[in-house]
Amino acid sequence: MAFPPEAQAALLAWYDANKRNLPWRRTLDPYAIWVSEAMCQQTSVAVATPYWERWMARFPDVSSLAAADEHDVLSLWQGLGYYRRAKSLLAGAQTVMASGMPDSASGWLKVPGVGPYTASAIASIANNEPVAVVDGNVERVYARVTDDSAAGATLKRNAGAWAQASLLAERPGDWNQAVMELGALVCTPRSPDCRSCPVREWCLARSRGTAENLPTKQPKPTQAELFWTCTLANCEGKWAVEQIKDGKWWVGMWRFPTLEEQIVPEGVDLGTITHTVTKHKVTMRVVKRELSAQSELWTWVSAEQLELLPLPSLYRKAWDMARRPVLLEVLAERSTRG
Ligand code: ADE
Repeated sequence: MAFPPEAQAALLAWYDANKRNLPWRRTLDPYAIWVSEAMCQQTSVAVATPYWERWMARFPDVSSLAAADEHDVLSLWQGLGYYRRAKSLLAGAQTVMASGMPDSASGWLKVPGVGPYTASAIASIANNEPVAVVDGNVERVYARVTDDSAAGATLKRNAGAWAQASLLAERPGDWNQAVMELGALVCTPRSPDCRSCPVREWCLARSRGTAENLPTKQPKPTQAELFWTCTLANCEGKWAVEQIKDGKWWVGMWRFPTLEEQIVPEGVDLGTITHTVTKHKVTMRVVKRELSAQSELWTWVSAEQLELLPLPSLYRKAWDMARRPVLLEVLAERSTRG
């Protein structure tokens, strides 16, 4: 069950008139599109846009990225989460420098870290290859248009077959982006705006009143809870940090000394942070300690140096907690000075 030509024309006309003015929509450079698609996976377009602009200013082409230091790459990615994407981009850029820029979806699939979604997105947008993309937006639009109550891998497979059969071969990149744009702006997860939908005439869920219940949700795996304790140790104006050497997350980034367990810590209690990372909920107690000597166990950095270190956002929050009392003191002092 694919979209008929009238539905294709209606959706593309809507896209041409309503698409968001995103910076990567003004280029056909595969590298720039690759970066945008890597950033937009797991992150909203609105959050990703300023990151993309900073990234392209710093690494304007694949050779500048391939020559980059991982530390700089992680710093630029800081706050976007899922740092494996940043490392994959760097490794991918090095592969592309060695074997050339792919010009097809199958070529892109050979680049480390590039999966079927990204390969099809780049090839359709930059090379006009008629390959459909499937992301969460496409799955939702498909489930509603065809009133399919499948979930999980079956939904993905069905959506892929529908998207490929519905693809407008003359403008594959615009078509793919039009379906995703419809999912992001109109066919939204909650309260879809069916009255402004350009393809409402061809939507079974709309005529049957099932749109709000689709797509069928997979039961969520329960989140494992972790309890950590983090110490912001200060000595003569310097702060103790350690590089994350191994573990599940953030390898290569930096953090304040952390015990991945719940202990009764020494120091001044600054509070607790909760943070979700993949399928885990981390509850981290943060304490601040003044030390009289700089232990060699850690690296000691100034507040200015800390601002430049790639810190996972959990630790950015811890750092903000430590600075808050200082900021309040400064403000209080200013107001008493008048
Ligand atoms: N989500 C991820 N990439 C996108 C794109 N190119 N257009 C619309 N939504 C997207």
